[in-house]
This record gives sequence, C-alpha cells and structure tokens, in this order.
Amino acid sequence: MRPRSVPGPERSPNPLRDPRDRRLPRVAGPCALVIFGVTGDLARGKLLPAVYDLANRGLLPPSFGLVGFARRDWAHEDFAQVTYQAVKEHARTPFREDVWRQLAEGVRFVPGQFDDDAAFDSAAKTLEELDASRGTGGNHAFYLSVPPKFFPRVVQQLRRSGLSEPVGDSWRRIVVEKPFGHDLTSARKLNAVMHDVFPEESVFRIDHYLGKETVQNILALRFANSLFEPVWNRRYVDHVQITMAEDIGIGGRAGYYDGIGAARDVLQNHLLQLLALTAMEEPVSFDARALRAEKEKVLSAIRLPADLDAYTARGQYAAGWQGGVQVPGYLDEQGIAPDSQTETYAAVRLEVDTRRWAGVPFYLRTGKRLGRRVTEVALIFQRAPHLPFDATETAELGQNALVMRIQPDEGVTVRFGSKVPGAAMEVRDVTMDFAYGESFTETSPEAYERLMLDVLVGDPPLFPRQEEVELSWAILDPIEEHWARRAAEQRVRPDPYPAGSWGPLSAEAMMALDGRVWRRL
Ligand code: BG6
Repeated sequence: MRPRSVPGPERSPNPLRDPRDRRLPRVAGPCALVIFGVTGDLARGKLLPAVYDLANRGLLPPSFGLVGFARRDWAHEDFAQVTYQAVKEHARTPFREDVWRQLAEGVRFVPGQFDDDAAFDSAAKTLEELDASRGTGGNHAFYLSVPPKFFPRVVQQLRRSGLSEPVGDSWRRIVVEKPFGHDLTSARKLNAVMHDVFPEESVFRIDHYLGKETVQNILALRFANSLFEPVWNRRYVDHVQITMAEDIGIGGRAGYYDGIGAARDVLQNHLLQLLALTAMEEPVSFDARALRAEKEKVLSAIRLPADLDAYTARGQYAAGWQGGVQVPGYLDEQGIAPDSQTETYAAVRLEVDTRRWAGVPFYLRTGKRLGRRVTEVALIFQRAPHLPFDATETAELGQNALVMRIQPDEGVTVRFGSKVPGAAMEVRDVTMDFAYGESFTETSPEAYERLMLDVLVGDPPLFPRQEEVELSWAILDPIEEHWARRAAEQRVRPDPYPAGSWGPLSAEAMMALDGRVWRRL
C-alpha cells in the first residue's frame, strides 16, 4: 500500500521534488501491449487511439511495443496501416508525424485463431523479438477485447505458450473487458479460470466509466470540500437519480447485445459503480484496497425492492424519430431475432441499508435510443421544512438538486430557489453551473487513455475487484430471474417505447408509485 500523502510545507517543502507527488506525470516503463480482438470496434474506436494519445503526451516509453492479434491475414505493415487510420479518425490529440513514426516502429501483428497453438507460439516469438530489438524488458500486458466466451481459451493459451509467466523481475498483466460473466455463477467460474493462470494483482477488470474524469470527480467533489458532506445523507437528500441515457441504437453490435440487454450491459457495472461512488463513506486513502473496500460496503448494503414488478421497468425501443431521422425498432435491427425479448431499457429502485442512506431511494435507469445522450447523478433534496411564502409565490419552486453531469456536458449543477425580480416575493428555480470547458484549459483524457496507462504502470484503484463484480451480479441476478420468470410464465415482453422518447410508461409508473418523477433531460 502506498503511504498516505500528507501535503503541506512541513512535510514536503517542494512538492515537485517529492517522488510521491501525484501531480507528476506517471510514465510507463519499458513494455509491450498485446491486444486480442484488434479488428473490433472497441480497438479501432478507443484502444488504438488511446495508445497514440498516450504516446503523444509522452507517457509511453520510446521503446513501446504494440502487438495486434486477430483472425486476419495481415502483415505487420497492414496492422500499422489500420492503426494509423484509427488514430487519424479517433485520436483525441493532434496528429504528429514524429510521434506516429516512433510508435509505428514497435507495431507488430500476429495472425491466428484462439485455438491455434502455433499462433500463440508465434505471438511469444514476436514478443521475444520485441524484447530484444526494442528493449521492452519482458513486461507484457494482454488486453482481451474479445467476446467473453473466448476468455478461457485465450487465458489457457497464454499459459501454454509460456506468455503468462514473467521472467526475472518482469511483469505480465491481463486486462479483461466487461461483461465479466453473465451472472454470479459464471462470473465466479470465469474468475477461477483467470486465477488459475494469473494472480489477482495481475488481473485488471475494465469498467471504463471509472476512467472518466467526471466519474473520478465524484470523489473530489465529495471528499475535497466541506460544503457538501453535511447534506450528503438521509436527513437532507430525498432521493437520488442515476441516469445513463444513450441516443444510439445497437448499431452493429447485435451479436454481443442480443440476449444480454441493458441491465447486464451497463446497469450491473457502470450504474452500480456510479451508485457506489456516490453513496460510499470516505476511504482512508485512494489506494486500491481502501477505495474498493468502501465501494464493496455500499454494494453489500444494497436492498432490492420487495415488489420487483412495480419497482423495476424493462423496455425495448420501437421505431421512431431521432434527430429528425426515422430509425428502426430494435426487432428490425440487423441480426436481431424478430421475437427477441432483450431489453434496451432498464430501470430499478434500490435502497442502501446504511445509517447514511436508510430510506432514501436510488433510482437507476439506462436505455438506448432515448431522447438524448446524457449521463448524470442527481441528488434531489427534501423541500424546506417550512415555506414562509404564499403558496402561489412558490408554485414554480421545485426541489433543490445537485447534479454531477458525467457526460457529454461535463460539470456540476446546483439547483435552488431564487427571488424573481419584481415587487412580489415570487420564488423560482435557478441553476448554478460549473462547466469543465470554462474552468479548465486542458481537455479531459479519454477514459481508455487513463485506464491503459494505469495498467502499464500497474496502478489498480480504478479497476473493480472480483468482490465488486460478484456483489453487483448478486444485486442483478434476482431481477434478471424475475424478468425471465415473467417472460416464461406470463409471456410478458419488454414494454415498447418509441425511439427518441424517454423510455416505457412502466418506468414513469414506477416513479409515480412513490409520488416522484424522472428528471426531464
Ligand atoms: C459500454 C456498453 O460499456 O458502454 C455500450 O457496452 C455503451 O452498450 C457504452 O454504448 C457507453 O459508453 P460511453 O462511454 O459512450 O457512455
């Protein structure tokens, strides 16, 4: 565990000289990154551009090696060309020829399938060659950007080919994209497969929401300020709404998405992580162990509603209009079975059984093809206990709110009542905004930049531990089982909602039961 850093003149007269100073850029040492599934959308849109952005920011060693592994008949140059295109199209930072040229020198490609021993032997040779020619020091990170059904095979191949075994004081790490299993049982099995080959400290489970600046800012907002803590509890908070709305449909991801659905895709991970960061107690430090321990306490304190029919909602988008364009319904998307039961919208009411949150509902919702893309965590406060105004004067006063705007309009909003100028004492809601773009000159790194660097320097706090993954499945499993039972016994299908709307009526009804409404975004 890293010692807790205590800033201040007494302890560290010149913080820039203090090796523990976290403002110093962390630079990865000699290493190579091997990406499995390098032809997929994630690699092209996020992973390869993130590698370039890190190189461009001077955070990768000059000797860095990048190895792609996929079922394509490509030479090294072909993969370099694909990477170049991905960087040109998706990198966050400006293109610089010298940075690209240096990176391209370490680019290699290994063609092959996951059950092909020879391909993995060839990957081992390629890495050996990189170690020798570029000085990557035998430090290798293996990134599994492949469908989960292939995880066990790849992991076993890494062992068989000797790639999982560090030599001397080098390291080997494995990075796993979600979903980590599809329920508690499968997550445990998968974990056993991983641990058979890699020790826990070498396993990095990605939840890319934790790599977002605005998500990490939840910790800064809560624990660097004294303004919010006194009201961050059941005495002042009426309820919490966590929304992750997307305007996109499933695009070309039918193969992955159908049969998985919104709850397993993002509620089990991104939304529950947002809840955990919002509801947890202050960790003794931001070290991996301390941070994860606090999140786990919250996840283990979550209580499901007794009436899962009333307090969950499940929807599927139908055809509709979005941004002036007519879009097809889920069942008409390419690759989707015409009778698919997969939900593209999920909402649930949860409670956190702790002294801080007893009785405060947390409403979570997520969906595709909703009105607009927006992710936020909103704390809605109780009304003032007494209003010394005429009822008409406060007719337009809502509840105070603190909204952490995760994306795309990144910032924080506080909503409160203010007097409307004029002779009467009329009070109306106004907002006070902090916007990243106005307060900071630097743009936020992409989540994958941050997470990839953390893997390469071996910094684990932003990666969920197996316990968190299991606790999250334990929350979701009863909901999924309930939905499956209703579908089998009563032929209940997900409620349709028109694309471009804000979800199914059942989600509105769920809030109405508690006398509340979803925030209009
Ligand atoms: C992924 C989900 O984890 O997150 C996708 O699998 C979803 O279905 C994506 O579209 C959203 O990520 P972001 O960063 O665009 O909010």
